[in-house]
Amino acid sequence: MKSLLPISLFASLTTALWPIPSSYNHGNSLVWIGKDVQVNWSGAKQILKRSYGNESNGGAPNADDMVDYAIKQTHRTIFDHGFVPWKFHPRGWEEPNPESATYIKTIELSLLKNDPENLVKPLAGEVDESYMLSVTENGKATVQANSTVGIVRGLTTFTQLFFQHSGGGAYTTLAPVEITDAPKFVHRGVNLDVSRNWFPVADIKRTIDAVAYNKMNRFHLHVTDSQSWPLDIPALPNLAKKGAYRPDLIYTTKDFKDIQYHAAIQGVEMITEIDMPGHTSSIWHAYPELISAFNIQPNWDTYAAEPPSGTLKLNSSAVDTFLETLFHDLLPRIYPFSSYFHTGGDEVNKNAYTLDETVQSNKSKVLQPLMQKFVDRNHDQVRSLGLTPIVWEEMLLEWNLTLGEDVIIQTWRSDQAVADVVAKGHKALVGNYNYWYLDCGKGQWLNFDPSVADQYWPYNDYCAPFHNWRLIYSYDPLSGVPADKHHLVLGGEAHMWAEQTDPVNLDRMIWPRAAAAAEVLWSGAKDADGRNRSQIDASPRLSEMRERLVAKGIGAEPIQMVYCTMNGTQCALGLE
Ligand SMILES: *[C@@H]1O[C@H](CO)[C@@H](O)[C@H](O)[C@H]1NC(C)=O
Ligand SMILES: *[C@@H]1O[C@H](CO)[C@@H](O)[C@H](O)[C@H]1NC(C)=O
Ligand SMILES: *[C@@H]1O[C@H](CO)[C@@H](O)[C@H](O)[C@H]1NC(C)=O
Ligand SMILES: *[C@@H]1O[C@H](CO)[C@@H](O)[C@H](O)[C@H]1NC(C)=O
Ligand SMILES: *[C@@H]1O[C@H](CO)[C@@H](O)[C@H](O)[C@H]1NC(C)=O
Ligand SMILES: *[C@@H]1O[C@H](CO)[C@@H](O)[C@H](O)[C@H]1NC(C)=O
Ligand SMILES: *[C@@H]1O[C@H](CO)[C@@H](O)[C@H](O)[C@H]1NC(C)=O
Ligand SMILES: *[C@@H]1O[C@H](CO)[C@@H](O)[C@H](O)[C@H]1NC(C)=O
Repeated sequence: MKSLLPISLFASLTTALWPIPSSYNHGNSLVWIGKDVQVNWSGAKQILKRSYGNESNGGAPNADDMVDYAIKQTHRTIFDHGFVPWKFHPRGWEEPNPESATYIKTIELSLLKNDPENLVKPLAGEVDESYMLSVTENGKATVQANSTVGIVRGLTTFTQLFFQHSGGGAYTTLAPVEITDAPKFVHRGVNLDVSRNWFPVADIKRTIDAVAYNKMNRFHLHVTDSQSWPLDIPALPNLAKKGAYRPDLIYTTKDFKDIQYHAAIQGVEMITEIDMPGHTSSIWHAYPELISAFNIQPNWDTYAAEPPSGTLKLNSSAVDTFLETLFHDLLPRIYPFSSYFHTGGDEVNKNAYTLDETVQSNKSKVLQPLMQKFVDRNHDQVRSLGLTPIVWEEMLLEWNLTLGEDVIIQTWRSDQAVADVVAKGHKALVGNYNYWYLDCGKGQWLNFDPSVADQYWPYNDYCAPFHNWRLIYSYDPLSGVPADKHHLVLGGEAHMWAEQTDPVNLDRMIWPRAAAAAEVLWSGAKDADGRNRSQIDASPRLSEMRERLVAKGIGAEPIQMVYCTMNGTQCALGLE
């Protein structure tokens, strides 16, 4: 055992793939790829004339658009955004000699089945993302899949086989390659909060690119909160004009569509969340009559988890009318791109309703039926507009609401919450904040008066410490879930709450740590033998993924010094 380890580990230093495929065999032959490589997908084109892709369908991309885009991305990734892998070889390493080279001439794409109708906006599990990929020693490359999204995933893996040569061109040293791959979980995402801080559209799109490159298939946009309302709703024009941090820091209807399109064309379904009834104080700027307990100071913490306090009134027909108008405007613009709409529901503060003249109580017995009515109204309208609701766990587990079987419950507070949700027969998303909250460990953003500062020293935040990639990687979405309920755990999301994140540190706050969650969700937390995945296997691959993200223009942080990546065993501890 001891003598075998360094060899097998060394052999895995540049095997390139993240997330790790279900089955992956490779050799060590050199094959080059030239810029003139042809992609043969005429077969795909014939099968795929779909009804998407025109204005009568809201302008969503169709399967042809997706493959076209993926081919262009493949080309750009390999030839424009490649990297020379010197960091993954010992000192003195020499790049392969390009003389008498074998070249990949054609990449053959084949679609084995017709795409499902919901290709671009599937419900969980409706699209088969599996693929097979092979590269022979004499340069024949093929990607086969049961859906267009599978082709996209296969091409993503394909790009990761190649390295840039400093003399020009790109090559793999892994031929022949045989990969059969499929995701373990059907919902694999990142959640980005764009309310606490403002992010330009380009930052959001770049984040989506990295999400897609990690083979995640969901991008959750937490687009409004108490601090700002940046989403333009033409039917309620003052909402963003007054509720955004500045009238120009808004996502126009065009921006919103572009973002959704940018996700959809890469096989990433965007899930828009308008959190409610809590986390809505920003509505007050345009509609003060709808919000109770707005910005109570200094004791805001009696009424909310964060300043400014405030919540939508719970027994108000004006609130119902407002939401009716809001959903009627927004949801049809989501419909072409997504099958989901997230109605929030976390951290509702009961005391805020003592100040709500339509309720004047903080008693569960009074509030619970009103909350049920509130959520029923919302979900009925979501369904009538063709979408499926998602809510935060509190609606089910704390408010004991009766929710439709279709509703997906997003958990965040504990593993027990996942077990409780599935025990009630509901579908669950994971994202335990002790593991998958990317904001944790930066310290408090609140300021403490000198008279109390001592009590809070050294000013750690509620979810400290910082969740390093190994902690994120150690999280098993199925831990604590009985085997007969595994099918109800659809997957999960890594969460980027943005109180201390803005465009300056966005990339490095998310990447490459969210990639650790991406591998857990695609490949599973355990290997084929049922053992916890090894950090010693993962770290060189994640380091390499980091280089690939950087080469693509994503400011992902390093996870090790070069000394460690030059020989994957030198920085290990506990090897026997
Ligand atoms: C391209 O695909 C078509 C249809 O599958 C096939 O007949 C043809 O031989 C392929 N061409 C190449 C160069 O692989
Ligand atoms: C546009 O989409 C509709 C269905 O929504 C379809 O019937 C029509 O053929 C499409 N038009 C084109 C030009 O693809
Ligand atoms: C395609 O579907 C078949 C079952 O119909 C399955 O056996 C296969 O693994 C799937 N994926 C690929 C890439 O063929
Ligand atoms: C809710 O509002 C209705 C109509 O204004 C009122 O009759 C009812 O008492 C209110 N419910 C509560 C719990 O305050
Ligand atoms: C409800 O409000 C009263 C005062 O109005 C307060 O004493 C009590 O702690 C509150 N209950 C909860 C559950 O917060
Ligand atoms: C929900 O049920 C739990 C357990 O029975 C109870 O403690 C809690 O007060 C209930 N919540 C509401 C809002 O009624
Ligand atoms: C596998 O990982 C889990 C979660 O981190 C941990 O509780 C468990 O002890 C690990 N198992 C082994 C055999 O190390
Ligand atoms: C890598 O590290 C192992 C274990 O320390 C050592 O045996 C091996 O010689 C090193 N290889 C290189 C190429 O430095």
